[in-house]
Order: sequence, then C-alpha cells, then structure tokens
Amino acid sequence: MLQRSNIVSPEEELQDFYEELRAQHVTPAWISGGVGVEPKSKAVPYVWHWCDLRPQAMRAAQLVGTEQAERRVLRLHNPELAGSSASNTLVANIQIVMPGEIARAHRHSPSALRFIIEGQGGYTVVNGSCIPMSPGDLVLTPNWTWHDHANDTDAPMIWLDGLDTPLVRMLEAGFYEQYGEEAQPVGEGADPSMAKYGAGGLRPAWEPAPTARYSPLWHYPLSQARATLERLAAEEVGSPFDGVILEYTNPLTGGPAMPTIACYIQLLQPGEHTQTHRQVCCTNYHVIAGSGYSLVGGRQLDWEDKDVFTVPTWTFHEHVNTGSRPAFLFSFTDAPVMKALDLYREEAQG
Ligand SMILES: [Fe+2]
Repeated sequence: MLQRSNIVSPEEELQDFYEELRAQHVTPAWISGGVGVEPKSKAVPYVWHWCDLRPQAMRAAQLVGTEQAERRVLRLHNPELAGSSASNTLVANIQIVMPGEIARAHRHSPSALRFIIEGQGGYTVVNGSCIPMSPGDLVLTPNWTWHDHANDTDAPMIWLDGLDTPLVRMLEAGFYEQYGEEAQPVGEGADPSMAKYGAGGLRPAWEPAPTARYSPLWHYPLSQARATLERLAAEEVGSPFDGVILEYTNPLTGGPAMPTIACYIQLLQPGEHTQTHRQVCCTNYHVIAGSGYSLVGGRQLDWEDKDVFTVPTWTFHEHVNTGSRPAFLFSFTDAPVMKALDLYREEAQG
C-alpha cells in the first residue's frame, strides 16, 4: 500500500544538512514558511488627509525647484510597506507644479495617470499632444510615451500621480529616457486625442486604429464622467458594492485605460452605505468631493474632499457617504494585471 513516509532524523544531523545547503545557496522548502491559503497583503488600509498633504506640497514648492527635482513629487507611502508606495504594485503620489514652471520631458516603461486636484489651465504634453488639465480630469501618460508638464497659470497646479512603478521594478522591466529638449514641440490641434477618440464609439476612419494596448484617448474630462454618473444616479441603478461606478475605458477595445491600471469614478448617494466585498487587486482612492468613511479590513478610514486612501488586495471594504451631498470617488487598481494572469477573484462578504 502506498503511504506517506515517516522518517525521523536526529536534530543534529538535520542542522548539519541545512548548514551545508545554505553554503551551497540552496534552501529546503519544508522549513521556509507555510503555504498561504489566500492573499495577505503586507500593505495596510490607510488614509492621507488633504489638510496635511496640501501644506507640505506648498512647502516642497518653496524649498525645491524643478531644476533639482525631475518631478516635484511627494510619495504617499504605506506604513507597512518597505518601499515608498501607497500599495503593493501602484504608487499614489502628489505632484505640484508652480506658476511659470515646467517639469521637463521624459518617458519610462511604467504607465502613469494624473488626476487633477487643484489648478485650472496648466497642461501636459503627451507625444506632442497638448492636454489641458482641469480639476477632476484624468490624463494618461501611458507606457513609453513622452510627457512634460507646464503651468502657465498664476496658481499652483496639483495632481495625483498613479503609476505602476513598484510592479515594473519587481518585474525588473523598467526603462527610462530623457528627451533631448526640456519640452516637446506641441503639435497641431487642441487636445487631439480628445478630438479623435473622445466621443466613444466613433474613431477617425482615415487612419488605422492604433495598435498600442493602452487607450488612444489620453484625456477624460470630469464634466463628461460626472454627467454620466448623475444621469445614471437619477435612474437609481448601480452596484450594491460601489454605487454608480464607471470605468474609464480604452474606446477601441472597451478594456482598461492601460494594460496594468484600471481607472474608475463612482458616485455614492447621500446616506448610501454599500455592501461589503473584496477583490484580488489593490486599489487607491482619491476623494474628488464628499465626506464619509470606508470600513477596510476592520479599520475605519474617515475621508473628505481630496483625501487619498488605499485598500490592500483581498481586503473586505464598504463605503459610507455620511454627507448631505453626493460623494465622488476616483480610484485606480492593478486588476488588469490580475485578470491577464488569471489571478483575479472577487467575493461578497457572507
Ligand atoms: Fe514621468
């Protein structure tokens, strides 16, 4: 009869064996920790409050120039993660560009998004296309696209940067290149990606569809997203877990905005308390407007306008709008990575 073997060895002989293995850079798997039955993030649920972040961004703008800092960025780091990132695979950072400043042109393999928090009228140039930035707008600077930022207004421009740098670093796949000039020449037309792809369901037929996996649309104005959210909210539709939630899609495929990052915007009605669920993906949230709290893995994260909070992977969470106005949340996740690798799951509590 076949059965599991029951070998008992003297401890001294085992330790000698392990010592020998160590010297040969070999590790016995049976003493290297147990098997995890489900994902357990090192990251913890955490909220960064705008009332703390904004003064520090302004201070950074006084103390450090964009000559010295390639990007004047404050990284929000999760208290339990070794690297300086808000979540396991995605950073959530605050970037500030002061009146008259530019942040010079470069490109890199990590994909990036900008969600505008403050300032009206600065712009980002992506592969020669000039993209205006208004509060609540989402701007993409996808994988290996040239990008530079400029503030030609008389007030600070502050935005949330979301990038997949921790993922790309872990995969040891990162490239970076400086542009030959400080800024790219700006091509013809105002907001060209918006002009060509911003209507959804329609694309220019005189040129071939772009083959890049990221969205050819690089500007998603808040006005459009907000109008759609409010129209659907009036019809009282939506998800029991997220209220009225919309994904910013690649208009050519209906897929995520970028291969590694999915972006969402949601509306929670005054008094709404969502049901609890969890997914295999980490999510960073930015409160566009509203006040309330989220219960995340047993912790209460209180939030209001412009705060940022993080929900680690496979952590139960629910959202509560305690205010008298609708709450609008922007969020971005690494779900496309999990889905591409057949690792994605989600489940409701109970
Ligand atoms: Fe960059």
